[in-house]
Amino acid sequence: MRIVFIGPPGAGKGTHAERIVQSYRLAHLSTGDMLRAARDARTEVGLAADKYMSSGQLVPDDVIVAIIGARLLEPDCRPGYLLDGFPRTIAQAEALDQMLTRQGTPLDTVLELAVPEDELFKRLAGRGRADDKPEVIRQRLVAYRNQTAPLLDYYRKAGLLSSIDGLGTVEEIFQRIRTVLDPISLGS
Ligand code: AP5
Ligand code: MG
Repeated sequence: MRIVFIGPPGAGKGTHAERIVQSYRLAHLSTGDMLRAARDARTEVGLAADKYMSSGQLVPDDVIVAIIGARLLEPDCRPGYLLDGFPRTIAQAEALDQMLTRQGTPLDTVLELAVPEDELFKRLAGRGRADDKPEVIRQRLVAYRNQTAPLLDYYRKAGLLSSIDGLGTVEEIFQRIRTVLDPISLGS
C-alpha cells in the first residue's frame, strides 16, 4: 500500500503512523522526522531547514522533493509506505505524482485526519517540541490552512481522499483508519 497522511499540526499523524506501519508492514516516511534528524546531525540541509521549521514555515519545495525522491527509491519502500507530512503543497503533490507515474506505482489512498484548531493547541501545548511555542503553532496552522489544505480538494478530485474524524481516543481513531485501509490491503 502507498498512503499519504494529511492533517494539521498536532492532528496525530505521527501517533497513528506508528500503528499503521506496524499493522500493515509499511515504511514510515515522515519529512518532519527526517528534517529534525538532519538538523540534529548539523548537516547543511538540516541547518538551513531549521530556520523555516523554528518559525513554523514550510521548507522550500525543491529541498523536500529531493529528499523524498531519494528516499522512495530505497528498498524498504518497495512493499509500501506511509507518507507522513508530505506532500504539503500542490507543487509537492504534482512532483510526487510525476515520480510515481514514472515508477508505475500510484497512490492507493490519501487519509485526512480532521481535528478542530482548539484541540490542536491543547495537544501541542502538552508536548513541548522546539516548534510547539504558541506563536509558532499559530504560524504552522496558517501554513496548513493556506498551503496544505488545498491538497484536500486536489486528492478529492482524484478520487483518493478519505476523511477520518481525529477526535477521540487513539484506539477509536485507529479503528476508523482500519475501516479505510483493510479493504485496500485485502485487495478489494
Ligand atoms: P511535522 O513534523 O510534519 O509537524 P506537523 O505537521 O506540524 O505535525 P506534528 O508532528 O506536530 O503533529 P502530528 O500530526 O504528527 O501529531 P502527533 O502524533 O505528534 O513538520 C514540522 C516542520 O517540518 C514543518 O513546520 C515544516 O517546517 C517542516 N516540514 C515537514 N514536512 C514538510 C514538507 N513536506 N514541506 C515543507 N516543510 C515541511 O500528536 C501531537 C500530540 O497530540 C502528541 O503529544 C500526541 O501524544 C497527542 N495526541 C495524538 N493523538 C491524540 C488523541 N487522539 N487524543 C489526545 N492526544 C493525542
Ligand atoms: Mg508528526
